Amino acid sequence: MRKITIIGTGYVGLVTGAGISDFGHDVTCVDIDKNKIKKLNSGEIPIYEPELDTIVKRNSVKGLLKFSSRINEAIKESEIIFIAVGTPQSKNGDSDLTAIENVAKTIGKNLNKYKIICTKSTVPVGTGKKIEEIIKLNSKAIEFDYVSNPEFLREGAAVRDFLIPDRIVIGSRSKKAFKIMQDVYRPLFLNETPIINTNVETSEMIKYASNSFLALKISYINEIANLCDSVGADVHIVSKAMGQDGRISPKFLHPGPGFGGSCFPKDTIALVNTGNQNNIRMNTIEAAIKTNNEQKLRMVAKLKSLLNNKIKNKTITVLGLAFKPQTDDIRDAASTIIIPKLIKEGAIINTYDPVAMDNFKSLKLNINYFNNWQEASRGADALILLTEWNEFRGIDLLELKHLLKAPTVLDTKNILSVENLQALKFNYDNVGRKAIN
Ligand code: UDX
Repeated sequence: MRKITIIGTGYVGLVTGAGISDFGHDVTCVDIDKNKIKKLNSGEIPIYEPELDTIVKRNSVKGLLKFSSRINEAIKESEIIFIAVGTPQSKNGDSDLTAIENVAKTIGKNLNKYKIICTKSTVPVGTGKKIEEIIKLNSKAIEFDYVSNPEFLREGAAVRDFLIPDRIVIGSRSKKAFKIMQDVYRPLFLNETPIINTNVETSEMIKYASNSFLALKISYINEIANLCDSVGADVHIVSKAMGQDGRISPKFLHPGPGFGGSCFPKDTIALVNTGNQNNIRMNTIEAAIKTNNEQKLRMVAKLKSLLNNKIKNKTITVLGLAFKPQTDDIRDAASTIIIPKLIKEGAIINTYDPVAMDNFKSLKLNINYFNNWQEASRGADALILLTEWNEFRGIDLLELKHLLKAPTVLDTKNILSVENLQALKFNYDNVGRKAIN
């Protein structure tokens, strides 16, 4: 059993802390937000993430998982410190590393014996070196090893991704650190999960290269879908057939209104910036970002076209606000671009999302919130679906037709049956499947 502190109890920190305590280690999660710690200590989980409450409870009861605001003590008492604070995007697109730098200072000041300092947060390539320097500057020549150990957690499936990962990446220059980190992930090591030991820069790069490649894949299929719309092809079959090729794989080939979330939009921009700083133009990633921005606006154009360009004073039902299902996260979600645009064009917005409405309310937009899709649809001139929640997959189209003033639907996630929409004579559109018969 190792004694571990996780600094930052946001999304990544909380899942990491809970996951590592589930591996049998003694974990303390700390945060500067005392209120958050108070809530966590009373059993309240501040984010919506399936299965997280179960493993938090399980390990708290065992005494393996604790929450504390006493950062200095926690650092001193631990052998391994994980940094999991936020790295939000600053105005120029670079990652804002203020929180990380402050944490590095605090770690340096509390360095009382050999420790491993390990960064989980996504940080631009080269940040590890800076963190190491800050710790050295603020400590008294006590030995420590720096490790980069990026997370690959999908929101909505983060607990499972942590406990059953595709791979673990560990970047360090110390053999001793690799050994200790291997012990942290011992259950996975015994399970033969691939563990990639490399240097810090490679580890940092793996995270950005992976996320940007996935973003590229989505933008690619979105462009193919747009072309399918024009030439009468069905993107669903195109993507399925492409995916049969083992070199391509069927994953991340689902077209939609453009990707969102806390990772892809931010990480792609950060990688382009790293490229610029090194005089390497990241043309493909720049294109993926451009396509993604345009895709969100294309959905507005599609809806307008369904309404014969008359959108002023029309009531539009928006189903789904979260950037994807199983999360209440709305960061960079298509809804945050599309809804303000529709409002600007004079539309009245009715909306429903199973869990993301509270977060969306903080944007303070003048829109109407409802408790279910039926109430949100009653009397509306058109409906646009933005998130593929399961409850929307089961929408009874006949019921919907009766609820709407006019049966006009834009399904940006291609989850409604085109056959049924056609049979019920809906005025409909989707992404790359309009023409199918
Ligand atoms: C992602 C990565 O998957 C994860 O490994 C990384 O650590 C963090 O970023 P996440 O942002 O939680 O995870 O969501 P993900 O499920 O990957 O989806 C991202 C966005 O892409 C969503 O908006 C989703 O709707 C969109 N997407 C995904 C598509 O439009 N098409 C697809 O085929 C897949």
